[in-house]
Amino acid sequence: MVSTKAPEDAYSAEPFVPDRGGLPALRRAAADCRGCPLHRDATQTVFGSGDAHARVMLVGEQPGDQEDRQGKPFVGPAGKLLDRALAEAGIDPADAYVTNAVKHFKFTQAEPRKRRIHKAPSLREMTACGPWLAAELAVVEPELIVVLGATAGKALLGSSFRVTQVRGTVLEEEIHGRAERLVPTVHPSAVLRSDDREAAYRGLVADLEVAARALG
Ligand code: URA
Ligand code: SF4
Repeated sequence: MVSTKAPEDAYSAEPFVPDRGGLPALRRAAADCRGCPLHRDATQTVFGSGDAHARVMLVGEQPGDQEDRQGKPFVGPAGKLLDRALAEAGIDPADAYVTNAVKHFKFTQAEPRKRRIHKAPSLREMTACGPWLAAELAVVEPELIVVLGATAGKALLGSSFRVTQVRGTVLEEEIHGRAERLVPTVHPSAVLRSDDREAAYRGLVADLEVAARALG
């Protein structure tokens, strides 16, 4: 039997990414991305938000339930916690461009109208969505990237990335042909899930302080 299904490793946002027009053109085009199956069940594409000249880019995993509904990254509980931690570390949110490794919400749902439960994106989905992140990096050219958790780390630095080994340090790596400086830390959702939330929060703030100092 001949399969009409595209090979799974053919998932890619690449054909949807415009090569000019800056962030507005990228955002418009991303709204119609069909680069992988995640667009089917999600409400909308959640593209990055913030100033095109932001000094720091924060990269999370993927939109959550609230972000999927509102169309903006980090507007739910994890985002509230992140905002507080950034302020405490002395990073002005106006200096930050915020985005995710994957632009559509992936979830499971036991029954229609039941709560949607976040599901981690696969490596294939992360790879498919990579061209959007690469395009955002090329436009914003941040002085520093803050890597929020394992998914963002794997998307930017490869599958051997381990957040516990490198958190709170300044890494220098070549990403999509550009020399980048990165500070990895835990994902704010991991702080919310932690048994010792206060200690986990202090750890996040300490890592963000490293990022603030690196920005100077
Ligand atoms: N978690 C993320 O990784 N990104 C968001 O935008 C919200 C929650
Ligand atoms: Fe496109 Fe990324 Fe959404 Fe997949 S997750 S459809 S690659 S924007």
